[in-house]
Amino acid sequence: MSTVKITQKVFTPGGAEVVRARLDHLGKEHDENKQGAAYEAVAAPVEGQKRAFIETYGCQMNFSDTEIIASVLTAEGYGFSQNELDADLVLLNTCSIRENAETKIWNRLDSLKNAKRHNPGIVVGVMGCMAERLKGRLLDERLVDIVVGPDAYRDLPRLILEVESGQKAVNVLLSREETYADIAPVRLNSNGVTSFVSIMRGCDNMCSFCVVPFTRGRERSREANSILDECRALVADGYREVTLLGQNVDSYKHGDVNFAQLLAMVAELSPELRIRFSTSHPKDITDEVLHTMAAYPNICNYIHLPAQSGNSRVLDLMRRGYTREWYMGKVESIRRILPDCAISTDIITGFCSETEEEHQETLSLIRWARYAHAFMFAYSERPGTYAEKRLSDDIPDPVKKRRLAEIIDLQQSIGNEISQSFVGQTCTVLIEGNSKRSSDDFCGRNDQNQMVVFPKIEGLKPGNYCKVQIHRATSATLIGTIVQ
Ligand code: 5AD
Ligand code: SF4
Repeated sequence: MSTVKITQKVFTPGGAEVVRARLDHLGKEHDENKQGAAYEAVAAPVEGQKRAFIETYGCQMNFSDTEIIASVLTAEGYGFSQNELDADLVLLNTCSIRENAETKIWNRLDSLKNAKRHNPGIVVGVMGCMAERLKGRLLDERLVDIVVGPDAYRDLPRLILEVESGQKAVNVLLSREETYADIAPVRLNSNGVTSFVSIMRGCDNMCSFCVVPFTRGRERSREANSILDECRALVADGYREVTLLGQNVDSYKHGDVNFAQLLAMVAELSPELRIRFSTSHPKDITDEVLHTMAAYPNICNYIHLPAQSGNSRVLDLMRRGYTREWYMGKVESIRRILPDCAISTDIITGFCSETEEEHQETLSLIRWARYAHAFMFAYSERPGTYAEKRLSDDIPDPVKKRRLAEIIDLQQSIGNEISQSFVGQTCTVLIEGNSKRSSDDFCGRNDQNQMVVFPKIEGLKPGNYCKVQIHRATSATLIGTIVQ
């Protein structure tokens, strides 16, 4: 019997994080996302090498973290397997944002019992937000050997050694400084064209519904030069798009550099490099950011601006720090300074005490804002949050679901109209690779983040820009042909 050793167990009280939790280009709710481990040949194991299998759930930040973890493991001599059954180390990078995100991980852990039966020597680790939230409690699940929180990935080699010496190992220490700035990510699931670059970690906004204060700790920004170096290296490797990631990018601040300045610095690196970013907070996004976007054609016309609710009383209960009117003012600034900018949002329905009239105000905000895209969720009470402790989760499930369905219906028709409005237009598209349906077609996104599919032509390859005339549109995809 192996003994359980809690390496470090630290309760971290504060620091909220407004989660940016999506993979836009997959067009799915973020906690629906699961990355199969389709590793590039560059990371594939060679004969005799130790093999790791990493599976990532949740937001873009988690996917970016997986590339840090891959880097730490590469330095330890690991290669990456595509299959849990032939791996020595199986890691799940997890999400806690809603109860169903955690349920998925529990189910996955159940299914991993098979892999352990097949190969009893396998080491199983839980990383990320659920590791941070549940800490050593995850070890009650006898399958799990290692629990690692989001700020402890550098410690992974030591934790693996502990397990190899017969103990179980946990490190869920949160940090006020860690940004992994010096770790060059191993781009495990890269298409070679687009990449995430993490610019900050944690978040100090205390949204009352959000579990992330307990999972990702205090906000800290990464030094601008290390961000620029990473972007430069990506350009040199042929990448043509970076998404700058942070839970609240508008509060980026390192030394004298604010987010608008950082955006300009990255945009100056190469006119061939497209820049996206996520997530913006309505209370913090500045006109300076919008003017910087207007000044650089390579900063994409797309802003994810989570509203959460269209009613000021609910927003106050959510502790979002703005009212409906303030939010609408921000959208108006975007429309004024960036007339072609697509805006997307996150909405939570059925938050504590939300009335039917307040729900109607969310619908009317969606109608007014005309979002290109929205991520919509029924409220899920999370342990330890202000809302769980002080408010009552009193909207019955069927009501939450009905309100959610109304919101989804409305957004679908608006999203569809917006897609149709591209028909006849010509868009500049960055080619990302083959379309999912056919290797005769390429896919890529336009400036406003819409996925575009079109037949290949001779001489073009992923990483090239091309002009595509749009002939028709489904709600998720624009279909066209290359005109230049
Ligand atoms: N219940 C439902 N949705 C939530 N989100 C965050 N916490 C919760 C919760 N407890 C949503 C918010 C956030 C997105 C990433 O997830 O809309 O912006
Ligand atoms: Fe990302 Fe963690 Fe939030 Fe999930 S809980 S969305 S993984 S930060």
